[in-house]
Amino acid sequence: MTVMMESPQQQPGLFISFEGIDGAGKSTHISGLADLFRGQGRVVTLTREPGGTELAEKLREMVLNDPMDPLSEALLMFAARRDHLQQVIQPALERGEVVLCDRFTDATMAYQGYGRGFDLKVLAQLEQWVQADVSRPRGIIEPDMTIWFDLDPAVAAQRLADARIPDRFEALPAAFFEQVAKGYEARANAAPHRFARIPADQPLQAVWMAVRHAVESRGWARGAA
Ligand code: TMP
Repeated sequence: MTVMMESPQQQPGLFISFEGIDGAGKSTHISGLADLFRGQGRVVTLTREPGGTELAEKLREMVLNDPMDPLSEALLMFAARRDHLQQVIQPALERGEVVLCDRFTDATMAYQGYGRGFDLKVLAQLEQWVQADVSRPRGIIEPDMTIWFDLDPAVAAQRLADARIPDRFEALPAAFFEQVAKGYEARANAAPHRFARIPADQPLQAVWMAVRHAVESRGWARGAA
């Protein structure tokens, strides 16, 4: 007699990105969410941009430290993203995993587009090429949800003041981050279904409750410890 083994039904992959200006305080909450999903038996891929693969981490080193013009900067961000998508994000989603990605394309739009003033239409074209996926509604792979830590640039600057040695971005003046913050706001307004805005100028526990609520209210990780 042949015994049929029933394979466990695979859950669909889930792609969540985390955004905000430097100093907005994403890291603790990304690890908290990873624990929440793991507590539900999900496999979690924790990753970041720029980075997440050997090649993309090399590009990260360059883009965060070496002087370059805004076009080179934008192209390197997308080159890193392409490798990351192909090597890590897409395979993990196909395996039904939860991908938690510290920054994604909204960061390019906010930093290179609004911050540096680089042409948004060119960036949108690069997004279409790099993230092309005909099986998806918008023809591109993008996060199912983006958790945006919204913080006043002046507060963020204060938080960063005593932190580590600043990289090329962290060293930029307050006016740059004002623009970046506007970029995030514009992206959130253009895709309200995808964005969850978290007011980040609150005690850590209150921010965490808001993050957790954003995920649970979409029916993900509900009822976990
Ligand atoms: P992190 O410090 O949050 O890891 O992010 C690295 C820096 O890179 C941060 O200052 C934002 C910047 N960045 C861009 O300018 N464009 C991008 O597309 C990404 C992903 C990050």
